[in-house]
Amino acid sequence: MIEEQLKQIREELSTYIKNSTNLKELNDVRVKAFGKSGLVTALSKNMREVAPEDRPKVGSQINAVRSELEELLKTKEAEFENAELARKLQEEQIDITEPSIKVEIGAYHPVADVIDRLTDICVDMGFSVVEGPEIESDYYNFEAMNIPKNHPSRDMQDTFFITDEILLRSQTSAVQAREMEKRKPPFKIVCPGKTYRNDSDATHSPIFHQLEGLVVDENISMADLKSMLTILMKRLYGEDTKIRFRPSFFPFTEPSIEVDVSCPNCHGTGCSICKGTGMLELLGAGVVNPKVLEMSGIDSKKYRGFAFGFGLDRTAMILDSISNIRSLYRNDIRFLEQMKGE
Ligand code: DAH
Repeated sequence: MIEEQLKQIREELSTYIKNSTNLKELNDVRVKAFGKSGLVTALSKNMREVAPEDRPKVGSQINAVRSELEELLKTKEAEFENAELARKLQEEQIDITEPSIKVEIGAYHPVADVIDRLTDICVDMGFSVVEGPEIESDYYNFEAMNIPKNHPSRDMQDTFFITDEILLRSQTSAVQAREMEKRKPPFKIVCPGKTYRNDSDATHSPIFHQLEGLVVDENISMADLKSMLTILMKRLYGEDTKIRFRPSFFPFTEPSIEVDVSCPNCHGTGCSICKGTGMLELLGAGVVNPKVLEMSGIDSKKYRGFAFGFGLDRTAMILDSISNIRSLYRNDIRFLEQMKGE
């Protein structure tokens, strides 16, 4: 009786296996045979009904059918897997002789590059990097920098007023008072950012960039400013750079200086970049006017400071030999392409 059943199950399941067309169907057959209530499983469970003397024989017959079916399942499974692999190999074939897709790698904008270089050097020297608003109040841009309303020194910086009191900042110096109000000395900050003035020619654009530096501490002197700027310039333009300090005037520093460096292009002999002078004017600086410290709530008897302001567009133009400042703002891809691979 059980032998009859076994024969039938064997035939039925082998046909299912042979006729299955994918792995899912094959798996269904596996469950049908060996699952919890599978046909082969059921037979093993029914062994109790077989006469004890017949059990070894029937047991080995069941095992033989089990092995045979397992073998069939395995073979069929390998068949499906090989077919799948062949299909993938065919479908995902790559023609290695085909030209590759060109990956376009961008370049740093010259001004962004200068900002990175300068702030990196300053951070090495212990400065914190801060940012300030480009839309600024008249107070922070001018008055707190010792440039009162209607004072003639305002003429040096003709900016864009939004209202009588709100303007586009004409100098990053505007962050000085903001930071002095916020911080307790000693501190060292640099602030890179956009600035605006009503100026327009080959070397001036209404929008340009500056980097402001401010150090407030006890016993600060012009000597600290000079040594710090010397290190900064040499790191930016190279060890053999010569630095020249000239007396100047800014309402917020006393004394004030302007700083020139030997032309990195001709090393001081004279070329078109430095207009034959061998030197380039790069920044304004000075010892912070005690009045400026006081206006922002810093005790000028105890603390002193020095400050400096770089023109970044000019610095970028020198480093990358750019003759017209407008090239920096035209977004002409041919110009930007030239900045690659530096
Ligand atoms: N803000 C000045 C300008 O735009 C540059 C400057 C000069 C900044 C002297 C300073 C400084 O911090 O001490 O012309």
